[in-house]
Amino acid sequence: MNTTRRGLKRKTLSLQAPAKVNLFLEILGRRPEGYHEVRTVLHAVAWRDRLHFRVRRSGIVLEGDGAELGRRNLIWKAARALQRKLKRSPGIEVRIEKRIPSAAGLGGGSSDAAATLRAMTRLHGIEEDPHWLAEVAASVGSDVPFFLEGGTALCTGRGQRVVPVVPGRPLDFVLVVPEAGLDTPAVYRAFKPSLTRRTKDATPFLRTWAEGEVRKLGRALFNRLEEPAFELAPELGQLKRRIAAMKPLGTLLSGSGSAFFALCADRSRALELADRLRRSGLRARAVRSERPGPSRG
Ligand code: C5P
Repeated sequence: MNTTRRGLKRKTLSLQAPAKVNLFLEILGRRPEGYHEVRTVLHAVAWRDRLHFRVRRSGIVLEGDGAELGRRNLIWKAARALQRKLKRSPGIEVRIEKRIPSAAGLGGGSSDAAATLRAMTRLHGIEEDPHWLAEVAASVGSDVPFFLEGGTALCTGRGQRVVPVVPGRPLDFVLVVPEAGLDTPAVYRAFKPSLTRRTKDATPFLRTWAEGEVRKLGRALFNRLEEPAFELAPELGQLKRRIAAMKPLGTLLSGSGSAFFALCADRSRALELADRLRRSGLRARAVRSERPGPSRG
């Protein structure tokens, strides 16, 4: 989809890239290539990086604050993956206003990558076939396809198979971000499969949400990666207890961590909890559910 009219092609575009939380994450097993088969509910939240794109004839240039600007940045990888797929080299320059903390399980890098794919297809007038764009996104990272649409989705496979979900009412959270991040591969490696344990289905969770039972939803939040993450970083287990002691409806590690989110009954309770957490020395921020769809910056 090219949003510009012929002959009036834009040279610049600004997009906002939201964070996500995993409201539910179960691991179903190990895949032959070493990744894990997951069943996860991803939900975009309103904490956003801002990306400013400018067309170049060729090459990839990244600039900005608070982000690694080299080839390890997922923005760079996304731009490169798109160039490879097209077998030509539409160039892009990206100024990054990084707001979402890295290595926190909040998907900031993946969201930036998805925004880059969207921006490049628009700015270069590339026909957007959703299938091949999702394929390019998946080659950049497991969570990148989700961010092409955002909103709420049940994701399976290694996370790249995305089925949009009609969400229940918008939710209010507090995100708590520890100083130290966690390394996603290390957390997955520390996961110990059990032959006797039954895997959890996401359907009861989604039903509770659809029924609007936010209190019950707090108790239904689930993340199989908490155990290995707490094993790697025991201070995170303590942090969870500290947040839980302030009585949100529920609190959970997001993805592979190290950030937690706490679910609150409404916005004023979220603001109050964020304030208390900050006064106890933690980095905390009240956020709401993001509205679906990519947003202009
Ligand atoms: O796909 P992505 O690059 O985000 O994954 C980072 C790492 O996390 C992978 O290299 C892998 O070690 C681990 N991972 C996994 N199973 C998944 C997703 C990620 O083991 N479903």
